[in-house]
Amino acid sequence: MTVPFTFALKATDGRARTGVIQTQRGEIRTPAFMPVGTQATVKAMFIEDVAAAGADIILGNTYHLMLRPGAERIAKLGGLHSFMHWDKPILTDSGGYQVMSLAKLRKITEEGVTFNSHLDGAPVFLTPERAVEVQCLLGADIQMALDECTPFPCSREEARVSLDLSMRWAERSKAAFETMSAPGQALFGIVQGSVFPDMREDSAKTLVGIGFPGYAVGGLAVGEGQEAMFDTLDATTPYLPEDKPRYLMGVGTPLDILGAVARGIDMFDCVMPTRSGRHGQAFTWGGRLNLRNAQYAEDLTPLDADSACPAAQYSRAYLHHLVKAGEMLGAMLVSYANIQFYQELMAGARAAIANGTFAAFADDIRRRYARADG
Ligand code: GUN
Repeated sequence: MTVPFTFALKATDGRARTGVIQTQRGEIRTPAFMPVGTQATVKAMFIEDVAAAGADIILGNTYHLMLRPGAERIAKLGGLHSFMHWDKPILTDSGGYQVMSLAKLRKITEEGVTFNSHLDGAPVFLTPERAVEVQCLLGADIQMALDECTPFPCSREEARVSLDLSMRWAERSKAAFETMSAPGQALFGIVQGSVFPDMREDSAKTLVGIGFPGYAVGGLAVGEGQEAMFDTLDATTPYLPEDKPRYLMGVGTPLDILGAVARGIDMFDCVMPTRSGRHGQAFTWGGRLNLRNAQYAEDLTPLDADSACPAAQYSRAYLHHLVKAGEMLGAMLVSYANIQFYQELMAGARAAIANGTFAAFADDIRRRYARADG
């Protein structure tokens, strides 16, 4: 018997929530951070270490995987989970956002988006129906409706036109999902509306009217700044159902995440811990530090003595050397330490919400992350 997709709230603290999403491939403890595994790999990490770091779920990308190695090929090979040796839940993004940031010669029509692959220029047509089909072929446990991530800044007029199209695509995505999906899978709608509170409210209400088992907030972290992002969340989450998970797409720094948790968000993804890791930027319980900095050249203290991550036990001096020398192991160790820090941060947030001490927890992290490098 397939386990149905459900969400159970366990405790709240102000507007912050902690709970459990049950999926056919296991539980997702919320608030959750999903490491980004765009091309069937969380960059520079063994997938076993992603699990050991504490991740319950990872993210994959429709856009990249449909272009290479191809969704039909992954299905033929047994699906994305077995392909990449990850048996826990996978959420896939629908592709619209990546088309906008990566593809060439994009053209959006009512029917879908036409673009040229960033790999070989081949023309591709992505519709809401094809995005669901690809996500089903991959075997994604949580799928996203095709949307247009409204560019920032944009006029009210542009935001309205873009939002209305995304809402029509959300409806088509749900209809396609109902015919193509396997039991236990879920499809989330994505709220758009740029930084305009009335449009965010309208978008949330429209999606709730269509009915989804979870709701994402898209179109943020695109240059609007943290204050505008938080204001937009304040204008959105009150219109989303309490009993469904809420996912803020593409966010963010530890402080972005804690601010969003305080506003009722349950799920996050971001390339930041892995991308920063590849560039020698470390996230630790003491704050952020740049391992390229000469001050670490003879520093034998562990990267993060407060982290349980094996990679964070290596000395700052060794990591400084690896990063400066451009060694692959430097990227691997710092990525691992960063992913585990993000997981420990979320575990801390969950425990604090359960204890009713989330505000103090977030204040403490704010102090640590306000300090200058090192
Ligand atoms: N990732 C970050 N922002 C967005 C968004 O607005 N839409 C989608 N589909 N993915 C995103």
